[in-house]
Amino acid sequence: MRPADVFANYGGKGRSLYPTNSRFSYPAGMAKLSIRDLDLTGKRVLIRVDFNVPLTKEGSITDDTRIRETIPTIEYALRRKAKVILASHLGRPKGKKVDSMSLRPVVARLRTLLDGVLDSDENVAFAPDCAGSVAEEMANHLEPGQTLLLENLRFHPEEEANDPKFAKQLAALCDVYVNDAFGSAHRAHASTEGITHFVAQSAAGLLMEKELTYLGKAMSEPFRPFVAIIGGAKVSDKIEVINALLDRVDALLIGGGMAYTFLNAKGQTTGKSLVELDKVGVAKAAMEKAAARGVKFLLPVDHVLADKFVTDARTMVFSGDAPFPPDWMALDIGPATVNLFSKEIREAATVVWNGPMGVAEFPAFAKGTQAIAKALALNEDAITIVGGGDSVAALHQSGVAGKITHISTGGGASLEFLEGKTLPGVAALTEKQEN
Ligand code: 3PG
Repeated sequence: MRPADVFANYGGKGRSLYPTNSRFSYPAGMAKLSIRDLDLTGKRVLIRVDFNVPLTKEGSITDDTRIRETIPTIEYALRRKAKVILASHLGRPKGKKVDSMSLRPVVARLRTLLDGVLDSDENVAFAPDCAGSVAEEMANHLEPGQTLLLENLRFHPEEEANDPKFAKQLAALCDVYVNDAFGSAHRAHASTEGITHFVAQSAAGLLMEKELTYLGKAMSEPFRPFVAIIGGAKVSDKIEVINALLDRVDALLIGGGMAYTFLNAKGQTTGKSLVELDKVGVAKAAMEKAAARGVKFLLPVDHVLADKFVTDARTMVFSGDAPFPPDWMALDIGPATVNLFSKEIREAATVVWNGPMGVAEFPAFAKGTQAIAKALALNEDAITIVGGGDSVAALHQSGVAGKITHISTGGGASLEFLEGKTLPGVAALTEKQEN
């Protein structure tokens, strides 16, 4: 059976991937209550969502993926005549009311996305505060099938401080709590962790389940060969995930700025490329670990060098392990590396990718990242899982997002999950009682 077929219960590539059967299970040790276990009819259901979406200065949403991805959960609750209360943070307002970080612009988008589910546009209301008397009154006046979006949780410093009094105020708004904010599950905040101490039932939403299923299965029972591609500028940001992956993968491919710390550890002189000198030791240790475990550890074999860190720099492709020209820096992987990495991806049964292969925000140095995106899309038999802003953006730019098995909505959360860390927002959910 092809790996992708095993996930048939969860949909398939390019289709909705929500678990549809009651035999859905979390990866080992994570049997948490699901929204599908709850009686929602007529109940006030507070759904913690991650609507931390990019906004222009004028308040228009430039990427609504995170909102769209929660629609199945909201729709699920509304169709069961729940009174839905949505709570989220947006940006980092540091405990103060900041107008540019208001969640108010999300109301119109929600109305559009829920068109056909709601009886009327009026059924998404906005509460100008997320806690206190106004929010309580609005929550208490909801009718079944109506939705209330609360203002940014982080306008209150108590949210990030995980203040129990504030968590209790949030809990007072609802009868049941659902966490669908996978992107925030690595934060132990009042709305993700604290609230669970003051409600009878805390369950995972459908998006949370989907994320935990794909990431969890890749880490606990991957189809092999299991290949991970890790990119990005710094070893320091990714060393923990690299070490965790080395315990599980068959091959680890490294690209992006961090590759030059690894190449430096192997003795190559890399001109003005980014090298974290204080991380050369850990880079060496990771390569030794790979060798000891028989994991294939691949670094770039050629590079697109630039004479300056600007988008219109002069460039050249440089291959081999000779010293780079001293004033040049590597800003992307070269074509031979694309071929080398693509071959590994082609032969893989599970692929996890996080982080760009070069300075993807400069079009001249985005080719390697886009080529990796396309290579993943071409392997339609594999389970392909992508996280991280630049990698996900490359999928969209290359028009191949629909060909990826699972695109994670979590940046930091997906990395921490892959690192093997406990996510407080998941740990706090109610354990499922097995019958
Ligand atoms: C994210 O964008 O990764 C999440 O919304 C969490 O945001 P934070 O890093 O500000 O906690």
